[in-house]
Amino acid sequence: AESLAEAAARRGVLFGAAVEPQTLDRDPAFAALIRRECAGLTPENHMKWNLLRPAPRRFDFAGADRLVEIAQGQGMAVHGHALVWHEANPDWLARELNPGTAAEILYEHIDAVVGRYAGRVRSWDVVNEAIERNDRRPDGLRRSPWLEALGPDYIPMAFEAAHRADPAARLVLSDYGFEYDDEAWMVEKRGTTLERLAGWRRDGVPIHALGIQGHLLGDRPPAFGEGLRRFLRDVARLGLEIYVTELDVNDQNTQGGVVRRDEVVAEIYDAFLRAVLDEPAVRMVTTWGLSDRYTSKADMFPRRDGAPVRPLPFDRDLAPKLARRAIAQAF
Ligand code: XIL
Repeated sequence: AESLAEAAARRGVLFGAAVEPQTLDRDPAFAALIRRECAGLTPENHMKWNLLRPAPRRFDFAGADRLVEIAQGQGMAVHGHALVWHEANPDWLARELNPGTAAEILYEHIDAVVGRYAGRVRSWDVVNEAIERNDRRPDGLRRSPWLEALGPDYIPMAFEAAHRADPAARLVLSDYGFEYDDEAWMVEKRGTTLERLAGWRRDGVPIHALGIQGHLLGDRPPAFGEGLRRFLRDVARLGLEIYVTELDVNDQNTQGGVVRRDEVVAEIYDAFLRAVLDEPAVRMVTTWGLSDRYTSKADMFPRRDGAPVRPLPFDRDLAPKLARRAIAQAF
């Protein structure tokens, strides 16, 4: 049967999943599933500052290297995640960052990391989750140590540094909260994001794609309609590609037994991907994990009834769920 990667490739889309290198090394059956279904890998955690950079002068590339090595050995593309984020930073970073030091720390980091993987990492989440809901921050930018030290310029600075370190890499601004047409703050966030993207494009900032995380909710209607389609079209008109960077369906509050929950989750994948894939600028779809055996949703969003969560296309026995069929058919 056709793999998800093959189905996606027929539409010019790269299908991948976020994984942890140690999981692939310890669980051969899961590794085989990843090999069979995916054309790309995202390190779920190993390229974040806290793992990559335990001390100011010390990098630890072991996990990231291993993931890149596995991907390369299997001819898979790597999507790097993430060069700049307000979370998952080591404690020392907040202590060291100030207006006098921040640019150097930022440049040094991006140069070292992107430079190391130049030619082996196809695309990067350069800046992750930088746009904030307007009702929380009137300037539309999320509070972060980088914003405090450098002001809004930290974003173009990061893209320029990444571009210098690997001129061939595809550079992505990734965020959540674009998905639902019936959520006022998301509709507003689309507008803020478009304005920012247009400004950076005008200024010649080397940004190539918008990443839409796609952490979808299993307890609300799949309101992925005209608003979302128009937003994607507007992004494409700016000359940008679109990547779905972290797709999954949170079934923490989904009602019903396993069969019903799986149906609901599959319907949500279906509705989202049908809306999104109609936009030809969409070139990558990455699920945040592939099997319910390994999903950060289990810790972050456990169910009150204690039942294991089922957010991904394969179950804990690595058997395909309705969600897998929905994804394949949407491609
Ligand atoms: C999550 C990982 O899945 C977890 O394993 C980790 O403990 C916390 O981070 N948005 C992002 C991802 O950009 O990096 C986050 O990943 C999920 C939300």
